[in-house]
Amino acid sequence: MAVFINEPSHTFSEYLLIPGCSTTDCTPQNVSLKTPLVKFRKGEESDITLNIPLVSAIMQSVSGDRLAVALATEGGVSFIYGSQSIEDEAAMVNRAKNHKAGFVTSDSNVRPDDTLRDVVELTARTGHSTIAVTSDGTPEGKLLGIVTSRDYRVSRMEMTEEVQSFMTPLEKLVTAKEGISLKEANDIIWDHKLNSLPIVSEDGRLLYLVFRKDYDSHKQNPNELLDKEKRYVVGAGINTRDYETRVPALLEAGADVLCIDSSDGFSEWQKITLGWIREHYGDKVKVGAGNVVDAEGFRYLADAGADFVKVGIGGGSICITRETKGIGRGQATALIEVCKERDRYFEETGVYIPVCSDGAIVYDYHMTLALAMGADFIMLGRYFARFDESPTNKVQINGTYYKEYWGEGSARARNWQRYDMGGDKKLSFEEGVDSYVPYAGTLKDNVALSLLKVKSTMCNCGALTIPELQKKAKLQLVSAVSIVEGGAHDVLLKDQSQGNR
Ligand code: IMP
Repeated sequence: MAVFINEPSHTFSEYLLIPGCSTTDCTPQNVSLKTPLVKFRKGEESDITLNIPLVSAIMQSVSGDRLAVALATEGGVSFIYGSQSIEDEAAMVNRAKNHKAGFVTSDSNVRPDDTLRDVVELTARTGHSTIAVTSDGTPEGKLLGIVTSRDYRVSRMEMTEEVQSFMTPLEKLVTAKEGISLKEANDIIWDHKLNSLPIVSEDGRLLYLVFRKDYDSHKQNPNELLDKEKRYVVGAGINTRDYETRVPALLEAGADVLCIDSSDGFSEWQKITLGWIREHYGDKVKVGAGNVVDAEGFRYLADAGADFVKVGIGGGSICITRETKGIGRGQATALIEVCKERDRYFEETGVYIPVCSDGAIVYDYHMTLALAMGADFIMLGRYFARFDESPTNKVQINGTYYKEYWGEGSARARNWQRYDMGGDKKLSFEEGVDSYVPYAGTLKDNVALSLLKVKSTMCNCGALTIPELQKKAKLQLVSAVSIVEGGAHDVLLKDQSQGNR
């Protein structure tokens, strides 16, 4: 006879926190959001500690190298998507690892024979006003000049005019040679009153641009997450098929942490993959596994050697797994059960295996609930897809800007490995959709605001750290009617957007 659980499973919106005593030191500035990323023994520290409890989803529409840099700058980690060739994924990891704060690879470039129209279109598409003119229009071509908004007037010029006739040519530019430090570059920028400084190689190729606004990069980003060599910490997704070649390539590219990306992690394939990694690299290589939704699944992956365990099936915003296959569990119930098992495992073995709550975060307060329920950190897709730094297109629909966001199980991503049950390699039905999400601006601004809300609620609970929140939090299930009571109600909103959390 099958097992029947007759209690319904619940999700975040069905819970609320009850405040605890806030002492006078409970102010958001005093809250630390540091949290372990990988397992550690009692009395020791995790080899990687996040400065904020957020990681970005292993998805094509979320975690490229640009987002990885932006998120590590704020103290979290991106997991670069694995649904691309090994070479391409390794190249992305490499770019993020080698990104030097303040040294930007030019991503708006034209050729000298391109036209003003090309410049205007490029500026509209990328939002950048500094455009490099290179011999072949690539970011690393021979530098011939720079175009900024000061070089052209759309109302007075023909759209067909060639870039070479109005660019500021190389001979009039102040440039610097490769090897220069950020401090030296900034001194040149200030001495010459520049907005940007191109850094060129010995043979005249463009390497980077340093912008005036990046002057205080390190001071502005006190939370940035760096490795021992002061490079950004970067994660990468792997699968249970080609790990024998993908893992070495990603490590070679500099990945600090890996994660097996699968919609159902309670499988022997994950055990075999973890076993192979342990056999070849011991405990040196950090690798998370998942996704699971119950104690049994956690125990299986913990015993198989996972460095962290990811929780969540069917709760992702683009996910249709529950509808397609009838598997999954309300995210809150899954998380609470797995976290209890993590604590039991810790008591039994003295090994603490961090739990990641993956997906289903809709409002910022869901982040606080996930942490209070026991998550050590949270993986988000939709949240990050909305930002400038996600790799997808920004599109305008009826006057409003959106970013594209698609699931790894959608036909668009064709990530067959994630849904692989062995046997035939093809993804034969979809488990995800292709969608738009409202464009929200920069990662930095949004993360700052979301985490301020998290810290503020932690203060309400009398907690200054995540472990303290997990100990002190009082959570209660709420009735459907109380949920209605929780929103603005029985008033006519003057501004509909006030309804947003
Ligand atoms: P979100 O933050 O609610 O958008 O959820 C993101 C999470 O959804 C990811 O981290 C994955 O675990 C999961 N996911 C990604 N693509 C798909 C899909 O196509 N179907 C089901 N789940 C997906």
